[in-house]
Amino acid sequence: MKSPFFQLLACLPFFWGAAGQATTLAPKKFLSIPLGAIKPTGWLFDQLMVQTNGLAGHEHEFYNYVSQTDWTGGTSAYSSLEEAGSYWFNAMVPNGILVNNSAINAKTSAFLSYVLSHQDSTGWLGPEVGTTKPRYLWGRYPFMFGAIQMTEFDPSLTNEVVTALYKFVNLANTMLRSNNTVGVEDWTATRWFDFVITLQWLYDNHPQGTASQALLIDTMERLKWTGVPWEKVFSKQFFPTTAVEHTPNPFNLPLTWHGVNLAEGLKALPATYRFTHNQSDLDTASQGWDLLFQYHGRPSGIYAADEYLAGLEAIRGTELCLVVETMFSGSFLYQVIGDPKFLDRVERIAYNALPGTLTGNMWSRQYLQQQNQIAARNMSTNPFANDGEPYSNVFGLEPNYPCCTVNHPQGWPKFITNSFVTTPDNLSLVQVYLGPFSTSVTLGSGNTVTANVATLYPFGDTLTTTLVSKSAFTYYVRIPSWVVGGTIAVNGAAAKPVAPVNGLQAVSVAAGTTKFVLQLPAPITIESRPHGSIAVHRGPLHYAFDIPRSQKVLATNARQPMAQDLEFDATANWQYAIDPATLKFTSSPPASGILPSPIFDSGLPPLKITVNACLVNWAVAAPTYAASPPTNPACTGVNTTITLTPYGSTKLRISEFPVLTKPL
Ligand SMILES: *[C@@H]1O[C@H](CO)[C@@H](O)[C@H](O)[C@H]1NC(C)=O
Ligand SMILES: *[C@@H]1O[C@H](CO)[C@@H](O)[C@H](O)[C@H]1NC(C)=O
Ligand SMILES: *[C@@H]1O[C@H](CO)[C@@H](O)[C@H](O)[C@H]1NC(C)=O
Ligand SMILES: *[C@@H]1O[C@H](CO)[C@@H](O)[C@H](O)[C@H]1NC(C)=O
Ligand SMILES: *[C@@H]1O[C@H](CO)[C@@H](O)[C@H](O)[C@H]1NC(C)=O
Ligand SMILES: *[C@@H]1O[C@H](CO)[C@@H](O)[C@H](O)[C@H]1NC(C)=O
Repeated sequence: MKSPFFQLLACLPFFWGAAGQATTLAPKKFLSIPLGAIKPTGWLFDQLMVQTNGLAGHEHEFYNYVSQTDWTGGTSAYSSLEEAGSYWFNAMVPNGILVNNSAINAKTSAFLSYVLSHQDSTGWLGPEVGTTKPRYLWGRYPFMFGAIQMTEFDPSLTNEVVTALYKFVNLANTMLRSNNTVGVEDWTATRWFDFVITLQWLYDNHPQGTASQALLIDTMERLKWTGVPWEKVFSKQFFPTTAVEHTPNPFNLPLTWHGVNLAEGLKALPATYRFTHNQSDLDTASQGWDLLFQYHGRPSGIYAADEYLAGLEAIRGTELCLVVETMFSGSFLYQVIGDPKFLDRVERIAYNALPGTLTGNMWSRQYLQQQNQIAARNMSTNPFANDGEPYSNVFGLEPNYPCCTVNHPQGWPKFITNSFVTTPDNLSLVQVYLGPFSTSVTLGSGNTVTANVATLYPFGDTLTTTLVSKSAFTYYVRIPSWVVGGTIAVNGAAAKPVAPVNGLQAVSVAAGTTKFVLQLPAPITIESRPHGSIAVHRGPLHYAFDIPRSQKVLATNARQPMAQDLEFDATANWQYAIDPATLKFTSSPPASGILPSPIFDSGLPPLKITVNACLVNWAVAAPTYAASPPTNPACTGVNTTITLTPYGSTKLRISEFPVLTKPL
């Protein structure tokens, strides 16, 4: 049965068409900076090299979905612009460029050339060329993001890429005008905004006159009309407040509550606002973000959806694809809306949830991660409502589904390229994510600026920034909401308390060299979780008990011995309750100033929190996963001290603990 919304949607083109269309796009609050202008340095460069030397940087050599050379055809429909090739390209364009890896750059360039040179006379891009397969629009969207990034890095590609995109837009507009909306299957109906964002890139950067701008806006509106009404999905009225496996979906399309669609769909309303100019779209986008984390959020920064939204229980799953998509969407939300809450959360996800779901060397990744994860193995019985596949939480090449193998590599590179923005007047540079970076940009009025940020952050609280600018200007840097007692010292003057406005600290910079030092301490904080349990944070990092583990190789790829499926099992007790009054933070920065490589594995980060704990009766719900934390349990063993370490470095863990209330 069709939902009322879809009946309504069928009518909308008539009403909206008659009302006339918007003729301009609303501006963004902050402007993104072209790929290549912002580089990772220090430990973050090393992390991107770990990714490059791991699965991400090698999969094009051996992984069947992306290792063929016939990019738009291939042996499998799935292999190319229908999903795998498109996701891979979107991720590996920035990865290759940020580490200047000539093999990867050659591969992404070849991919671009192949796709563009096989565009057919109608304008279609993709594997359906010369076949009778239906032409679905969505699979091309991540490819377009890759092509945009490559063009921003190498403007000599502009003519070729922009011409091909306009040809495709003409075709897509015709398809969307046809009465049965050719090309819009369920995934296109949910992910329409990614095409809208591409159309907005053309409008902002490569306008070709009023008629073509009208066509771009008309296509944006048609994409919205033929797609999911995200303003309803993210409304208080319809947003699900529990795991959804027993909740009927009111949208006719259950995919609206699919984890990855929601992660990508966070971009729908900010993109919509640009052509509707309707403040309600921004308000709902912001509220939807809050609802998602209030009812499904995790202390690691992300939310749970083991296929569909999964509520608050610590053993439910979070898919890796939604981790990286939420990071990218959060960056876009900030650029359109300007609320620093998006930045705080993206940073938490990047420094906790993302590394926690990959092995330290980034050769093996999970499909689903858990906050409380006592085993990563064949789950003969499992807690995931729609991911009953036994391998969902194994660390491997393609546990359960292959999509995250090709999609996860966008996480770090896009975090890096979105870590600085400029103000809309193009006169100020803004550092929005904290970490070690170097940036070189030309601002409006020709002011050339370089910024070098030296820091161990998030493994340290001190950031030393050196700016070199041709003229005087105002620089901004984000001060996260968790900082207490932060200070700034400019050019060797005495440190002063930071005074951020809307999350940003302004620094007045004279022409020449300016150096300033930020100290950004944070207290330990406690987050309340279900069943009276608690989670522990300090600053950007969330802390977990790293369960000692054994490892068993379940499978090794025939073409690449590093690509293994790994089982992890607990080799020690994990059934601890903790006393939050005894939490104590210690930092032991490396004498060399250089962190271990890789950094995100057991015992490697130089930070820890100790806490008084005791063993309690805490059952397993199945051999492979823990029951909910017991409420107010009594100690069954003597007091002990346990050490909590950054979540991202743990692969088995407890991070939602019962509270120690009745000592033995
Ligand atoms: C990137 O690598 C190429 C060789 O592969 C080299 O010629 C070029 O100078 C490098 N670029 C940068 C910015 O390091
Ligand atoms: C759509 O349907 C209307 C009414 O049946 C018809 O006049 C029009 O030609 C159709 N348009 C297309 C593109 O098929
Ligand atoms: C703005 O969006 C809201 C919610 O979708 C809608 O009810 C309202 O009519 C829109 N306003 C305009 C002027 O289109
Ligand atoms: C997973 O475990 C179940 C039950 O222990 C077993 O039947 C099944 O074959 C295992 N699956 C794999 C892929 O090893
Ligand atoms: C900012 O100004 C520089 C220098 O004039 C220019 O190259 C760049 O395109 C401008 N950026 C935007 C987003 O307008
Ligand atoms: C055990 O821990 C509790 C809570 O931290 C504390 O109140 C109690 O004094 C401790 N007992 C011993 C014997 O250390």
